[in-house]
Amino acid sequence: MKSIYILHENEEWIVPLREAFDKLNVPAKEWFVNEGHIEFDTVPENAVYYNRMSASSHTRDHRYAPELTRVIDKWLGLNKATVVNGNGVIDLEVCKISQYAALQQEGIATPKTQAVVGADFIVSAAEKFNTWPLIIKPNRGGKGLGVEKFNSLDDVKLGLRRLKADSPLDGIWLLQEYVKSTEPYIVRCEYVGGKFLYAVKVSTEGGFELCPADGCSIENAFCPAFEDDKAEQQQDKFEITDILDNSPLIKLHEQFLAKNQIDIAGIEVICDESGKWYSYDVNTNTNYNSKAEIKAGVPKSGMEAIAEYLVKVAEES
Ligand SMILES: Nc1ncnc2c1ncn2[C@@H]1O[C@H](COP(=O)(O)OP(=O)(O)O)[C@@H](O)[C@H]1O
Ligand SMILES: [Mg+2]
Repeated sequence: MKSIYILHENEEWIVPLREAFDKLNVPAKEWFVNEGHIEFDTVPENAVYYNRMSASSHTRDHRYAPELTRVIDKWLGLNKATVVNGNGVIDLEVCKISQYAALQQEGIATPKTQAVVGADFIVSAAEKFNTWPLIIKPNRGGKGLGVEKFNSLDDVKLGLRRLKADSPLDGIWLLQEYVKSTEPYIVRCEYVGGKFLYAVKVSTEGGFELCPADGCSIENAFCPAFEDDKAEQQQDKFEITDILDNSPLIKLHEQFLAKNQIDIAGIEVICDESGKWYSYDVNTNTNYNSKAEIKAGVPKSGMEAIAEYLVKVAEES
């Protein structure tokens, strides 16, 4: 069997995956990707590589880790190595507009969205967009940081200084219609090996006050790997659900993943008051909430599914 390399930049997130490999009695090597030297003109080891790079790496001081991942992905691809979540998937991870284009190409609804480069264009763009409430968020996002909800043009004007001070890494702001759901939750659909694993409801209560007055950043509230103390007080913040198990949306997501060579992902969706589902965030680096998995009694945890999938790829490639 080929060696398995896990490319990542966050020790904390790797722990449950390490445990899943231990359970299988398979050693997986870890490749910490932040800074380094890539000998692009050499031939990489003939192994299986799994890209777990996250768009939020800059929040852990790993500013250029996605850029380095792109270099590695190109190097591995050039040499025909097997890369799980390779083939340019990193470019989707760090660009929501690319995600929306790819989702729409598969007939998947995304919230109405426009893009702005240059803070001086935000107010006029918001005025023209004229959809309230309005979400303004970074195109290169992560962990909900910088996601804000505005109720009026005056609010946008008031928030402009803050938006300018915290401009997105790639300089692109997205203006997006706020999808109002009847019940306060979003759903994250998890896929491993391109196939649906399960969906998890994430409560938008409590930590999810997108009001500018509260600072508006959602921070870790939507990261299944973390449940901070505040979240701890809320019962069942993450709850595995079967509401989408028989939905045609799952098949469409699977088609989208296959088309874009994405093997492993968590796709966030939200249902509006009329019952229409919108897909708005593709996390090609995904984490799972073990408490919710245990509570639901899933036959296989997310990390176990990933480890088993990687072993299968390593045996067959
Ligand atoms: N258009 C929207 N309508 C309603 N809620 C949204 C919208 N966009 C983002 N949110 C909320 O903000 C959270 C973070 O936004 P998201 O687009 O997932 O950014 P990130 O890539 O940082 O996770 C979402 O999980 C959702 O709860
Ligand atoms: Mg998200």
